[in-house]
Amino acid sequence: MRTKIKCLALTTLFLSTSASLCAADLTKAYDMPNATEMIKKDLFPAATKYTMPKSCNLNDAKAIARGKYMFHNLNGKKAKKPAPEGLVKFVEKKGKDGKVKKKPKQFGNCVACHNIEGAKGAGNIGPSLIDYKALFIDTKARDAQFVYQKIADPRVDNANTHMTVNLTTKLFNEQEICDYTAYVVSVKNKK
Ligand code: HEC
Repeated sequence: MRTKIKCLALTTLFLSTSASLCAADLTKAYDMPNATEMIKKDLFPAATKYTMPKSCNLNDAKAIARGKYMFHNLNGKKAKKPAPEGLVKFVEKKGKDGKVKKKPKQFGNCVACHNIEGAKGAGNIGPSLIDYKALFIDTKARDAQFVYQKIADPRVDNANTHMTVNLTTKLFNEQEICDYTAYVVSVKNKK
């Protein structure tokens, strides 16, 4: 209705051009996406509490090796050394065209923010994790559950954290969070 009234007004004003201005109702000519629905799926999932699974074997040398590899590398393309057992450098993903393509696997690159034994050019946005076991685990200031939760979703005990969310976002799976935890709490070579 409103358009019609507007058109009427326009018609009286611009008699000669009214035909071209009001001839078609264009509102149905294209899709009107529902912005609220679209935003919903992009919203960051809420902070989530996790319990470290019983299957996490923190003493497993292979888990520690995987955690170390993911901690120090950005992705499978940049990683120079071969991936340790149980980890791959490339994953197959369906592209927009529906074709399955090999893509480098995303790793944690935790060294961008944390210093740790053997890190090269580590960042200092996050605290240093050097000597973590002796300083935090053996002193009981922290336990493996705390570390697991921190890596899975750091927002639970620090709402304003600058650390990345890894499990709630499905960036990594439970096993991978276990691997990171095992590495962080392990005894490491000083180099
Ligand atoms: C963008 C920077 C950033 C990245 C990337 C990052 N962290 Fe953090 N991390 C932080 C900051 C900042 C804190 C301190 C604030 C907090 O505890 O939330 C922190 C805290 C931690 C702590 C808790 C230390 C303690 O005892 O208080 C652990 C463990 C940890 N990070 C492990 C990791 C691991 C493992 C990764 C890689 C998967 C990682 N972080 C990636 C920034 C980062």
